[in-house]
Amino acid sequence: LDPAFLYKDLNENGKPAMKPDFSVKAGENIQETGLVDPKNGRRLKTPIWGYGNDTISWPGQTIQVVSASHGGAEETIVRWANEIKANEHLLPVDENLHWCYSLHGASSANGVDYRAYSIKKNGVPMIPHLHGGRTDFQFDGNPEYFFSTDGDVKGPQWDFVEGGFQTDFRYDNNVQAGNLWYHDHALGITRLNVYAGLAGFYFVRDEFDTGQPDNPLGLPAFPYELAYAIQDRMFTNKGNLFYPAYPGDPFYDDFITGEGAVLPPDLFPGGGPTALAEFFGDHVVVNGKIWPKANVEPRHYRMRLLNGCDSRFMVLRFRAAAAPSATNLDGASAPIPFWVIGMDQGFAKEPTQTDTLVFEPGGRYDIVFDFSGVPSGSRVIMENIGGDAPFGGAFGDDLDSGDLFPDRQTDRIMAFDVVVSLNSSIPDAFDPSALPGWKGNMAQVSNFRQVALFEGTDEFGRLQPLLGTVNGDGTATGYTWFQDTTEVVSLGTTEIWEIYNFTGDAHPIHLHLVDFEVLDRQDFTFTSDGTVPVPQHSGAFGEVVNVTSITEAGGVPDRPEIVENGPRDMVTALPGDPDTGIGQKVAIKATFDKPGRYVWHCHILSHEDHEMMRVLEVI
Ligand code: C2O
Ligand code: CU
Repeated sequence: LDPAFLYKDLNENGKPAMKPDFSVKAGENIQETGLVDPKNGRRLKTPIWGYGNDTISWPGQTIQVVSASHGGAEETIVRWANEIKANEHLLPVDENLHWCYSLHGASSANGVDYRAYSIKKNGVPMIPHLHGGRTDFQFDGNPEYFFSTDGDVKGPQWDFVEGGFQTDFRYDNNVQAGNLWYHDHALGITRLNVYAGLAGFYFVRDEFDTGQPDNPLGLPAFPYELAYAIQDRMFTNKGNLFYPAYPGDPFYDDFITGEGAVLPPDLFPGGGPTALAEFFGDHVVVNGKIWPKANVEPRHYRMRLLNGCDSRFMVLRFRAAAAPSATNLDGASAPIPFWVIGMDQGFAKEPTQTDTLVFEPGGRYDIVFDFSGVPSGSRVIMENIGGDAPFGGAFGDDLDSGDLFPDRQTDRIMAFDVVVSLNSSIPDAFDPSALPGWKGNMAQVSNFRQVALFEGTDEFGRLQPLLGTVNGDGTATGYTWFQDTTEVVSLGTTEIWEIYNFTGDAHPIHLHLVDFEVLDRQDFTFTSDGTVPVPQHSGAFGEVVNVTSITEAGGVPDRPEIVENGPRDMVTALPGDPDTGIGQKVAIKATFDKPGRYVWHCHILSHEDHEMMRVLEVI
């Protein structure tokens, strides 16, 4: 891996872009991921979709901008273009989901029947979202602002934007340095567009975190600052991206409901591909390379990490392998501690030393790792000990392997070979106490809101996760995406959201527009009585558990995890046990300071695309 990945293209000499505007296109390209043809040993080529300025890549062009506080412009203008010319998607599209070209019912606010459009005729709809940005609503990349190739078909919400459809998106630079990212967010196909490669880094620099070697915090800077987008994928023997969607596909049975149950092959009238309950790839891909390695010097490195997986929670740790070129972890060292200095939207309250890091889909961590503690010539492996859900590491033989770790195991991510000798002209210094501590959200709270997470089933009997509300009478209700907005927040106010998880799964929850402070977690118990119908966009009904009462546990809540001590836009709602009526809630505190139509959702992309997303309106 090129250590200069972070600095390619838009940045000159490692300096972030100062110019206020530039173009980024979504387009097609062919990339080598490291897959090798088992028959002849040749490198396979993978068609991808990505973002770029000159060159389309997966992950996309890294964007770095300078905060207005450090002399940057007030806003950055990105001129987006959808140049994907394909007349079919790279991956199978489930047209039974509520998606861009099936939009009807309550979502068709402008009266257009989107079923008249198709990818074949109109191209692939997409809409870029700056995750973690404080963006005006019309540029926020919400799912109903999609546009097709050349802007032929536009999502219904553009009708309510002054000036109508536009592709010059303005991003607010009145923000502190942070680890943002951008990715596609088109309704009902976000998981597929991101899987195809539509995601990239977007870093903000400020007067503390300049990214330059002379930065006042003494943080490792170019070329000792690295950025890694970690994603899991599957590939065919020819090197194409693979997404199981039909009965008989590898792993289809494991993913279709998430619990190993098999649905009838004639799931839909007329058949067709299906969305999955969750997706877990069998290859780990870092910056578009499968199980890659980087050569490093024996010194401190800063790593900006992104979990860009669809569904996979990871638990990261680093160990030194027993042999310099080891591909397995037998006899590896004890886990090596590292510093977590920041997360999604900036620095932590205080840096924390840890040797394991729970890493949810959609989240970002900013860590400092010291390679000087391992003997020169060693190999350090970044592992994932988060388990290999849902199939426990029992990989089949149908799929091809990567090159570094031929056993195709998702318990390892990448390797660092400490082989480059120390460049002594650049001092190696890292002082955790020099970092500015985040103060937390000090604003006065004006409202408490109780929201809820459910797992029900859609009209086909597939798992359908939902968001909803806890009602004043102690009941709770799950809603699909198009039902009337329930999260309406007054502009400029600060709210505490208590997120009640009625499911047996962890859900990484994301709010657009804000950063938030994670306050605490606590159990609760609930009773339920059968199920209630849930309206689907098709007019049919699914169902979800009918919560009849909730009892708070009381007592002292759990403090947040150490790795949640910074400005976040992701929070994991931990699972309860629905069978015994135990739930868990997590509280967050956020200030909503721009008006408009935003969203909140689960960042398991398969959940988000299957109704676990709701409008968040600030008025
Ligand atoms: Cu990264 Cu609405 O998402
Ligand atoms: Cu979820």
